[in-house]
Amino acid sequence: MAEEELPPSKLGTKDHWDGVYDREVRVFNDVGDEGEVWFGESSVTKMRKWAQRNIPDTDRTVRILECGSGNGTLLLSFLSSIGPKPIKKQKFHLTGIDYCEGASILAESIAKTRIENLSEDLTEDEEDEYYSNRDRNESDEGEEDEDDEDDVEIEKVINDIEGIDWRTEDLLTKDLAEQWDLVLDKGTYDALCLSQDTVQEQDGRSRLPSQIYPERISNLVKQNGFFLITSCNFTEEEIKSRYTKEGLGLEFHSSVPHPSFSFGGKSGTTVCTVAFKKVSPS
Ligand SMILES: C[S@@+](CC[C@H](N)C(=O)[O-])C[C@H]1O[C@@H](n2cnc3c(N)ncnc32)[C@H](O)[C@@H]1O
Repeated sequence: MAEEELPPSKLGTKDHWDGVYDREVRVFNDVGDEGEVWFGESSVTKMRKWAQRNIPDTDRTVRILECGSGNGTLLLSFLSSIGPKPIKKQKFHLTGIDYCEGASILAESIAKTRIENLSEDLTEDEEDEYYSNRDRNESDEGEEDEDDEDDVEIEKVINDIEGIDWRTEDLLTKDLAEQWDLVLDKGTYDALCLSQDTVQEQDGRSRLPSQIYPERISNLVKQNGFFLITSCNFTEEEIKSRYTKEGLGLEFHSSVPHPSFSFGGKSGTTVCTVAFKKVSPS
């Protein structure tokens, strides 16, 4: 079945995002507001918890990339880990890539402030956010969530961060020639699918961003690594079909439940979070 393209919108243009980050950098410098958290804090918590449960327990440094990292708050959630006691400290290297220079400037300033204020004391807000996001549903591997008990005691640890890079690159045209253990996308595929401007590729082809991006993502994920995406413009089924095409080497791994709504006899969710595993090299 042919894939339906989304109607073009200003959210699919770089000019729009440049304007957003110019404003957000000014506001951050004036009053310290970090700017919009796309899909809200609960999406950050859901993606972070998925990573905590699924990143293999290893002593080596885990390399994480966020594509279209904006203000960087998803990536910066890896500075610490919150979970049932005892929770293990991990080693991370974090990379955020966005095509707006303003996004990299904003993310760098937010990172500096967050690192200066980092503490192992769990704040009330963090505790509330953690508990309000406990999934009562079964996880996709068919197991009850381990921390689905009321009496579980949680703690926070500060992770070892080997480095944080904020880069200004266009993910549709830049050949990065690097791979990561975990690649994240929160709202970026949604945004670039709102552009109908074809992109000229090095092999002479000219395709829509929505068609190029899944291939680019696959190239960025190490074999046995993961791609975790949160989207509001596509259903879980649409995301699965777009990222498991032949040749991409990605296979559906799991999905994270979001609250569902019912309207007019139909039920669904407004946002989906889906994880893929890279099973063959690219
Ligand atoms: C909806 S925002 C999400 C930002 C961030 N991931 C978050 O969750 O707050 C989409 C981001 O994708 C970036 N973006 C869109 N197209 C891009 C491209 N081709 N290359 C790199 N970044 C892109 C935009 O600048 C913007 O920061």
